[in-house]
Amino acid sequence: MTRLCASKPIITVNGKFPGPTLYAREGDTVIVRVVNHVKDNATIQWHGVRQLRTGWADGPAYITQCPIQTGQSYVYNFNLTGQRGTLLWHAHINWQRATVHGAIVILPKRGVPYPFPKPDKEVIIVLGEWWKSDVEAVINQAMQLGQAPNVSDAHTINGLPGPAPNCSSKGYTLHVENGKTYLLRIVNAAVNEELFFKIAGHNLTIVEVDASYTKPFKTDTIFIGPGQTTNALLTANKETGNYVIAISPFMDTVVATDNQTATGTLHYKGTLAFSPTTLATIPPRNATPVTTKFMDSLRSLNSKQYPANVPKNIDHSLFFAIGVGVNPCPTCVNGSRAVADINNVSFVMPTTAILQAHYYNISGVYTDDFPANPLIPYNYTGSPPTNMQTMNGTKVYRLGYNSTVQVVLQGTSMIAPESHPTHLHGYNFYAVGKGVGNYDPKNDPKNFNLVDPVERNTISVPTGGWTAIRFRADNPGVWFLHCHLEVHTTWGLKMVFVVENGKGPTESILPPPSDLPKC
Ligand code: C2O
Repeated sequence: MTRLCASKPIITVNGKFPGPTLYAREGDTVIVRVVNHVKDNATIQWHGVRQLRTGWADGPAYITQCPIQTGQSYVYNFNLTGQRGTLLWHAHINWQRATVHGAIVILPKRGVPYPFPKPDKEVIIVLGEWWKSDVEAVINQAMQLGQAPNVSDAHTINGLPGPAPNCSSKGYTLHVENGKTYLLRIVNAAVNEELFFKIAGHNLTIVEVDASYTKPFKTDTIFIGPGQTTNALLTANKETGNYVIAISPFMDTVVATDNQTATGTLHYKGTLAFSPTTLATIPPRNATPVTTKFMDSLRSLNSKQYPANVPKNIDHSLFFAIGVGVNPCPTCVNGSRAVADINNVSFVMPTTAILQAHYYNISGVYTDDFPANPLIPYNYTGSPPTNMQTMNGTKVYRLGYNSTVQVVLQGTSMIAPESHPTHLHGYNFYAVGKGVGNYDPKNDPKNFNLVDPVERNTISVPTGGWTAIRFRADNPGVWFLHCHLEVHTTWGLKMVFVVENGKGPTESILPPPSDLPKC
């Protein structure tokens, strides 16, 4: 692929970057045969698809399956039960998802309308990142040196960076017509960036996130983390003209700097050639108030047809302190290396998939002792940090089938506070509360929204603050929870829930497919 005026080999799906869009309807069965034609191992995750009882098709390497090896194939077979909207698929091994990703469109069942005015047209917008160097070289830097990896050289809109320093590469153009309404299905497939998205001179009406309908609200800026999806209505209310479409990174700390903005053009039909383009005001890199306002505006639609069912009584109350710290490393340049952890445990990937170990009762792959709370409570958002060190382990936390779960995700400031877009596989959860500083278990729950909190699969844990999520563990299996910034996942910011088989057949996972890859 040629981007930024240089060519390099990349891994693609069916020769496309971004990859093909998967179109389906709510209730459909999806069958995708993935054939690995590259020298690296591969897997695909259907990010946000609930995978009810079909954990074998979820996709994270060494969690629910062994990778598909060179020359081999695997058929992902799953149902789209009770979900409609936009999601994404992406590779789920190393950093392969940098180039291996695409959108999933789940239309409502035939004859069922959207709960918002029918758009004239639907548009897929996939946001991504581009490195001039090989992505494997970037990951090696993060792993071997234990240092922050190079930030990408560009952001992309549907694979195109737009004009960049020293290269007039072309950007994405969205053609619109005065008076028409467009449903933008926006996917953040970036590797390490939460992003702002905006269109000069236009407001957007948010109607859905992570394949869950929301109460519609107007905004001039969308905040979207990697793994998140947002459906927004755009009304083309100008006669003619060109308007900048811009995506820019949100990074509210100075751990890495990245000011790259990717631009595209919203082009009205009938606009004269050489008409000027209206520029967008891009939020500053550290525009935390913009992210807060956006997240606070998100509410479940909570209609009769699409009710919010927020668990009221909680069986498992968990507190996860998540962050990035440093561990000693005699062989590293600085004598230390960055690690990331949850409750002081930096997760080590096993060499056998945890779901297989669980299903076949193979011992020695993981231990059952993931801590429900930090080992030693400390001032999570204080400075200086008080609890920098971590232990390694492949630890899981067991949840009873159909139990109700609350997880408070507490951001910490071990090195520097950072926002963490945290993703849970196998479930949607309700984001019932959030706040700055340390979570107060006595008073904060009084302000939880148990009526219409937004339902999603990936949530930003705010810098120097916390987010509380709730879900019902109604999907048996082995489910990954991790920061969707790939660098933090790589450093160990991840853990696994094992949801126990119950007695009846609906409470157990289905048997594995016969072509399940072997490790
Ligand atoms: Cu889309 Cu486990 O990540």
